[in-house]
Amino acid sequence: MELYNEVPYPLLTHSYTHPDRMAVVGTLMGLEPAGPDACSVLELGCGSGANLIAMAELLPGSRFTGIDYSARQIDEGRRLVAELGLQNVDLQFADVLDLPDHFGDFDYVIAHGFYSWVPDPVREKALRLIKHSLRPHGIAFVSFNAYPGWHQLKAMRDMMLYRARGISDPVEQANVAREFITLLAESQTEPSPFASFVQQYQSSFQGRGPVPESQFVATLLHDEMAHTNDPFYFYEVVERAEAAGLQYLAEADLEGSTPIGLNSDVVSRLSSFAVDTIDMEQYLDFIRNRGFRRLLLCHQEAPVRRNLQAGRHAFDGLYLGSFATPEPGEGTANGHTVRFVTPDDVAYSTDQPLVQAAFRHLGRVHPRVLPFEELYAEASRIAHGASKPPESEADALASVLLRNFFYSRSLIELYVAPRHVENSVTPRPRTTAFARWMARDGAEKVTNARHEQVELSAVARALVPLLDGEHDLNALVAAGQAAVADATRNKVEDELRWLARVAMLVA
Ligand SMILES: C[S@@+](CC[C@H](N)C(=O)[O-])C[C@H]1O[C@@H](n2cnc3c(N)ncnc32)[C@H](O)[C@@H]1O
Repeated sequence: MELYNEVPYPLLTHSYTHPDRMAVVGTLMGLEPAGPDACSVLELGCGSGANLIAMAELLPGSRFTGIDYSARQIDEGRRLVAELGLQNVDLQFADVLDLPDHFGDFDYVIAHGFYSWVPDPVREKALRLIKHSLRPHGIAFVSFNAYPGWHQLKAMRDMMLYRARGISDPVEQANVAREFITLLAESQTEPSPFASFVQQYQSSFQGRGPVPESQFVATLLHDEMAHTNDPFYFYEVVERAEAAGLQYLAEADLEGSTPIGLNSDVVSRLSSFAVDTIDMEQYLDFIRNRGFRRLLLCHQEAPVRRNLQAGRHAFDGLYLGSFATPEPGEGTANGHTVRFVTPDDVAYSTDQPLVQAAFRHLGRVHPRVLPFEELYAEASRIAHGASKPPESEADALASVLLRNFFYSRSLIELYVAPRHVENSVTPRPRTTAFARWMARDGAEKVTNARHEQVELSAVARALVPLLDGEHDLNALVAAGQAAVADATRNKVEDELRWLARVAMLVA
């Protein structure tokens, strides 16, 4: 607790913990989770509450409660809540151990960056609290450092702790640890599996998510070098959750729960001895050398459907979107294969006109999202004109889109409730007050309307604080040009269009 007061954790948001993300998984798996627009969310170990604050601004009909035992972080969060004028966030200074098991009735409970970092009694308490405070169709998110991936990372942790032993100043501890890892990486002159692991680990220091240099120290101290940092095998946490009356629903990213990406021979060999879903996922963790897990849990009694609905009904209650666009120069003639590519370089090629039409349409309306039936009607009109295709086509299209969703969320994304995004640049564009605050605070990455982190260019960093619905295009161009001397008007307008595309603009 003292360390969090001395060196607070950075203000981070976590896309997987958004109620919409959890609701999508729940809906696909037969639950009827509360919609994100009218739900209650509890976060254990919320730090300063940034994750909840970002959600709360765009979900004013929902209520958000955060618990943390660092007074400094809770105070910082409360100041931000007041500054943004949010009425639906309650940040409480408390030790999770002291809370009653039934702390209220919540549709979602989040414990991110918590389970591995607290002692055993707090872990047990958190699971009991989830069991007694989660509504019948509620979903909990519990992340932890996982074996086997953490075996190698633990070696890095041990070396850093050894190097920093005897040093009392936390900032100095982090600095000597980092210097040591650099030395370790640079000393590996011969190629070896250890050398490549160390070099990769060292380079991860540079690209630490949304964390600028000033906050690097905090994540190193509170994550790898934390006093308590216990990794677990996936099956161990599932067993503990079951003992508390909960069941494992799925990995939050869903792909992690499936053998997608493995060749079919590997899958059939695993299937010959994996006795159930949990066993299979544990083997997948071994094969992937997984080092971090984000579990979704629900009540043991909840009616989970492990086999997804086939065909168009898989998308009942869901909206679809896509980041993919056709590769430049792709023709539109029938029979041609078209390659659709996402900004993170995931590609999908198809020669099926209906699937092409669906992706083209999703690309056109992006970042808006559509129900499957609306998408199908439009894709069918584009692909077939007035002629009526067989009904089975809709099911075939749904299966392809669902496979794409499992393969990559940027190819097909799913939501239970459309987001409040604006897909074009209006005369006085607006982003969230939270994003403006983050950009003013110097963040290199800010949170978009989909609760994802977006990395900003120098021009965008100057624009975001002014996207308050008051500044017109001339004022924005002037600000962009003042920040980056060679930014032309076109360049600033391009940046604004880009901000719209990455769901930074809200209606
Ligand atoms: C690694 S940080 C994660 C913060 C945030 N959840 C995130 O992922 O960005 C862990 C947080 O848990 C809090 N914490 C640890 N033990 C706690 C306890 N027993 N009761 C309440 N908060 C606790 C710490 O103060 C800290 O803010």
